[in-house]
Amino acid sequence: MNDSRRKLHGTWASRWTFVMAATGSAVGLGNIWKFPYITGENGGGAFVLVYLGCILLVGVPVMMAEVMLGRKGRMSPINAMKSITRDAGLHGAWNSIGWLGVIAGLMILSYYAVIAGWALNYIIEMGSGTLHGADGPEASALFADLLASPKKLIFWQTIFMLLTMGVVIGGVTKGLGVAVRVLMPLLFVLLVILLVFSAREGDFYQGWTFLFSFRSENLTWGGVLEAMGHAFFTLSLGMGAIMAYGAYMPEHAPIGKTVVTVAFLDTVVALLAGLAIFPIVFANPSVSANAGPGLLFETLPVVFGNMPGGLFFGTLFFLLVTVAAWSSSISLIEPAVAWLIETGRCNRITANLLLGLIAWIVGLGTVLSFNVWEDHRLFGFNFFESMDFLTARVMLPLTGLFIAIFVAWLMKPAEVFSAIGDDPPVLLTLWLRVLRYLSPVAVAVILVIGLYKTFF
Ligand code: TRP
Repeated sequence: MNDSRRKLHGTWASRWTFVMAATGSAVGLGNIWKFPYITGENGGGAFVLVYLGCILLVGVPVMMAEVMLGRKGRMSPINAMKSITRDAGLHGAWNSIGWLGVIAGLMILSYYAVIAGWALNYIIEMGSGTLHGADGPEASALFADLLASPKKLIFWQTIFMLLTMGVVIGGVTKGLGVAVRVLMPLLFVLLVILLVFSAREGDFYQGWTFLFSFRSENLTWGGVLEAMGHAFFTLSLGMGAIMAYGAYMPEHAPIGKTVVTVAFLDTVVALLAGLAIFPIVFANPSVSANAGPGLLFETLPVVFGNMPGGLFFGTLFFLLVTVAAWSSSISLIEPAVAWLIETGRCNRITANLLLGLIAWIVGLGTVLSFNVWEDHRLFGFNFFESMDFLTARVMLPLTGLFIAIFVAWLMKPAEVFSAIGDDPPVLLTLWLRVLRYLSPVAVAVILVIGLYKTFF
């Protein structure tokens, strides 16, 4: 049975391909766009420390559970959960883990493609010299123009969706596997080039201090919650992406060791992205490092536009953002594609076209929420913000919580241990304890406080 399942989708060429695919999924807009500015806002080193705690105590344990479930079920998250619950004699309601995940993935993809489209647009703006010598108001006007134009936004969103589907149509071994083996080294090379540029041309000392000095007075409870939510988003947890990737993993590869490697690489990239960005920002006294979400698309273009060699390195920077987003977006659609193939109703190409079209159409809502629909709000959220809120704040933690409870409380420990592979037994026992008591409580707390703070 397992053999025929593996043949349906194919498998990664090796454990390393899995590591690169999972790292590719993890490293994305979350690392390069979000992490640097939320760290700056929430107390620098103090925030980094809390975030690392969340990665270790919640992120890594839940990720191990996801990979284990995927590899045990050897199918898309929906069918993997079906076969595992059936075999274990558990209630069918647990299948919702798979369903919630697949739906969340398409919802995230719908807006992710729009934001990634901005990065594509900035490759061209940087490369063609539009931003040469631009000052703050000019760069902001350029960004505002982009957001005000549904046509431009849809154009770039479409290109990005085509890039994503192009890879996933190629299948696990030849599409996703080959893409990550090219994109991940490229991402690291670009990051290193930008770091060297930043260290030579930027104010490295000030950038470093901004990112790592311990300003515990700036760390609030809101910041702690943000750190937890971000740990989920950045590791791609709670939507089956990692479960689907686990389904293509070689049989006996140790899951614990592999997951720790992925979490480590993801964190390193987030920190290095911060170190590439802030010294460059501080090199230009006319801009502020506290621009929040506008840091990437308003602040950085001004800085790059006014530095020697800035246009070239600015182009590389937005290429880096695009590559990171691309290797993430393929993991957002793959679980649904795998499921549709398993239903026996379509092949990989049709599945991609159909699901890509759905994500594209839903994405139009995000496009319009920056212009025509800006004032259409529900509970104060526009369309884009509702999608982001529903997925990142509700569905991901909820699915993560279910996964922790399912694996640590409902599955038999012997079954869990036999599925997880060859890590040291002491560490695996520790893992299961953390997943039993610590992770679910932490996730439940984020979920409840997060929802409470939003609506009251
Ligand atoms: N981890 C990616 C980032 O940091 C985004 C992402 C890809 C994701 N796949 C996911 C987030 C699955 C949640 C779930 O940008």
